[in-house]
Amino acid sequence: MSPSPIHTLDKNGVEITSVGFNRFGFDSEVPLDVLRALYLRPHYVMSSAPNKIKDIEAEAEEEVQHARFTGEHSAYQSKSVYHPSTGCISYTTLSRFPPVKLLAPSNRKRILVTGGAGFVGSHLVDRLMLLGHEVTVIDNFFTGSKTTVSHWIGHPNFEMVRHDVVEPFMIECDQIYHLACPASPPHYQFNAVKTIKTSFMGTLNMLGLAKRTKARFLISSTSEIYGDPEVHPQTEEYWGHVNPIGPRACYDEGKRVAETLTYGFQRQDGVDVRVARIFNTYGPRSELRPS
Ligand SMILES: NC(=O)c1ccc[n+]([C@@H]2O[C@H](COP(=O)([O-])OP(=O)(O)OC[C@H]3O[C@@H](n4cnc5c(N)ncnc54)[C@H](O)[C@@H]3O)[C@@H](O)[C@H]2O)c1
Repeated sequence: MSPSPIHTLDKNGVEITSVGFNRFGFDSEVPLDVLRALYLRPHYVMSSAPNKIKDIEAEAEEEVQHARFTGEHSAYQSKSVYHPSTGCISYTTLSRFPPVKLLAPSNRKRILVTGGAGFVGSHLVDRLMLLGHEVTVIDNFFTGSKTTVSHWIGHPNFEMVRHDVVEPFMIECDQIYHLACPASPPHYQFNAVKTIKTSFMGTLNMLGLAKRTKARFLISSTSEIYGDPEVHPQTEEYWGHVNPIGPRACYDEGKRVAETLTYGFQRQDGVDVRVARIFNTYGPRSELRPS
């Protein structure tokens, strides 16, 4: 008997089957089960006892559970299996890539995603790839991992470059999603000077690239730019209440100066910019982070 699939309901109890939308001649809709099929399975632990039958049964059960999650798209799934008895981990990569939209060259965008191996970035990369665009990820793997996007490595529309955004990067592109920055307090406080360098110099480098290539630019900012807010909930008109010398300042002030730079390039150089202030977000692949 095939396992019953997982249903995700919205607040009105209606099943959600896709994300994105198809409106005003702009189609960004992607089926939910295709996206789920791309999540690297959590490390599946083989029994430490040398009991082959138990291992096979456990793996079969895990396959059934996973098929519930991914529906008919499990063929695109990669997974990792940890073997405690030997202390080894085995990776199974995709045998084929999920189908991506075939766009006319004039509609296919060359998109740069900085921090694309991180939690938010890797989900964005999945969406952009499925929509048929050419995606280049640059990441220094400080908090990100190659495993989050490994299912696209080898695809003709995908490129992955190990690079630190503090250094300039040259590429021709139509859009830049600038996400590179450690996001959790232990990570951004680990090296506060590097965090603020990443926000300032990294954003300056990417805005310079956007100016030269005339690419549209989006930066992922944060609700932390409001600091310790005196207004709840915060509206975009509220300017914040930030301690510039506190332990979190490297992140909060870094993102504030990154927003300032972004609007400076818009006013002075006409760069087409967007700022997305993300509030606390978690989900599949964020568990890679200890916090
Ligand atoms: N997740 C949230 O709750 C949240 C909330 C607000 C804002 N944000 C912002 O969204 C973006 C992504 O956050 P996330 O949760 O995916 O974090 P993440 O740590 O999973 O991803 C950040 C990515 O940037 C990379 N990176 C860090 N410094 C870099 C550098 N100098 N050069 C190149 N790559 C670098 C990391 O290796 C990682 O892959 C960040 O800009 C973060 O500030 C996230």
